[in-house]
Amino acid sequence: MSHKPDTASLEPIEKASADELQSLQLERMQHSVRHTYANVAPYRAKCEASGVTPDDLQSLADIAKFPFSYKSDLRDNYPFGLTAVPMEDVVRIHASSGTTGKSTVVTYTRDDIDHWANLVARCIRASGGTHKDMLHVAYGYGLFTGGLGAHYGAERLGCTVVPMGGGQTAKQVQLIQDFKPRIIMITPSYMLNVIDEMERQGMDPRQSSLEIGIFGAEPWTNSMRGEIENRLGIDAVDIYGLSEVGGPGVANECIESKDGPTIWEDHFYPEIINPETGEVLPDGEYGELVFTTLTREAMPMIRYRTRDLTRLLPPSSRSMRRMDKITGRSDDMLIIRGVNVFPSQIEEIVLTIDGLAPHYQLTVDKDGPMDSLSVRVESRSVLEAGSVKTLENELQQHIKSLMGVSTTVNVVPPGGVERSEGKAKRVLDKRP
Ligand code: DLL
Repeated sequence: MSHKPDTASLEPIEKASADELQSLQLERMQHSVRHTYANVAPYRAKCEASGVTPDDLQSLADIAKFPFSYKSDLRDNYPFGLTAVPMEDVVRIHASSGTTGKSTVVTYTRDDIDHWANLVARCIRASGGTHKDMLHVAYGYGLFTGGLGAHYGAERLGCTVVPMGGGQTAKQVQLIQDFKPRIIMITPSYMLNVIDEMERQGMDPRQSSLEIGIFGAEPWTNSMRGEIENRLGIDAVDIYGLSEVGGPGVANECIESKDGPTIWEDHFYPEIINPETGEVLPDGEYGELVFTTLTREAMPMIRYRTRDLTRLLPPSSRSMRRMDKITGRSDDMLIIRGVNVFPSQIEEIVLTIDGLAPHYQLTVDKDGPMDSLSVRVESRSVLEAGSVKTLENELQQHIKSLMGVSTTVNVVPPGGVERSEGKAKRVLDKRP
């Protein structure tokens, strides 16, 4: 489907010149750094240790002089030690569970919630949504930022919101059939699960009312986009965000170009760095994404290390820069016999093979001193043993020739891989 950009409804800053944008960024960045330095003792201590003060920020590039912030800073100062305002001004708390250790807690003032709602509304508009649309939210509600973040943004735009949340897959399908939403906000892996359920209920997914899906909260490839768009007959766009800098709505793809999420640079200043040395890399080079929040009051973040690997791309549909699809998180990178492996690379390859479904899970284990990798993936239909073997060999050979890594492949019948109701668990680590 082709889409005409609706430039009339854009906020002026979405069309501003680079100069206008940069001068707004500098003004906001100076304020944000000053506010953090004055009110977040652990960050001020880091600045003192590296001998910088807010006065050293005279240009946007000067941000490179400032220390990084890490997820461990949130853990070390659990729960509210990084909150920069009196707790009585905090109106909302979110937290991300993480797999190990304490959760990371994020706080919001009323203005933070207000900016966030405006930004998610901007995301939905960039995705082709308007106030006339009904929007089904299947991101989890609660401490996770996905559900409430999407919800407030959709309400701000004036959509009719269905606050379904995650889980109860049969009911998701029933509500989609009965209410007929045009837009869905959901993780891509859970979308696949919902599509399967539509088919199980005898429904043709392409006949559903859905026309736009706004997918994020986990890495997904352009091949996965193709799969979802074809099976559901919709446009699929990418929404990015993370709790530590506020939640969903840091960046969103524009439906007219579908060329990677536009970063809402008037609120979040991005950098790409070399994750080993911390050196700032030029636009276009791959590295770790780092954000400085420009307008957050309750929990500002200066140079937060996201661990997400991507690159910055020039503006296209808006005047702000874009990010490329996230290849993976540096924490999720597996090193198998010296080869770096991201689950998304396996996803790309799985989706090139007819007969394989995009339901997959990787297991890392020890094989003597070395790490070994096995891939469990579903076939699209129930197959005879011979055909299963053929598919297994094909996938194993493709992975070997394209990535240079040896794997064990198990092709299992439909339903044989654990289904996601939110963020898919792509890697099982069985290493002792
Ligand atoms: O997942 C916020 C969110 C909710 C984003 C709903 C989009 C939609 P966290 O639970 O803190 O927050 O997880 C953040 O998820 O650092 C990335 O590794 C990953 N992630 C989020 N969006 C994308 C995306 C939410 N579009 C972490 N593509 C981030 C790839 C994504 N990875």
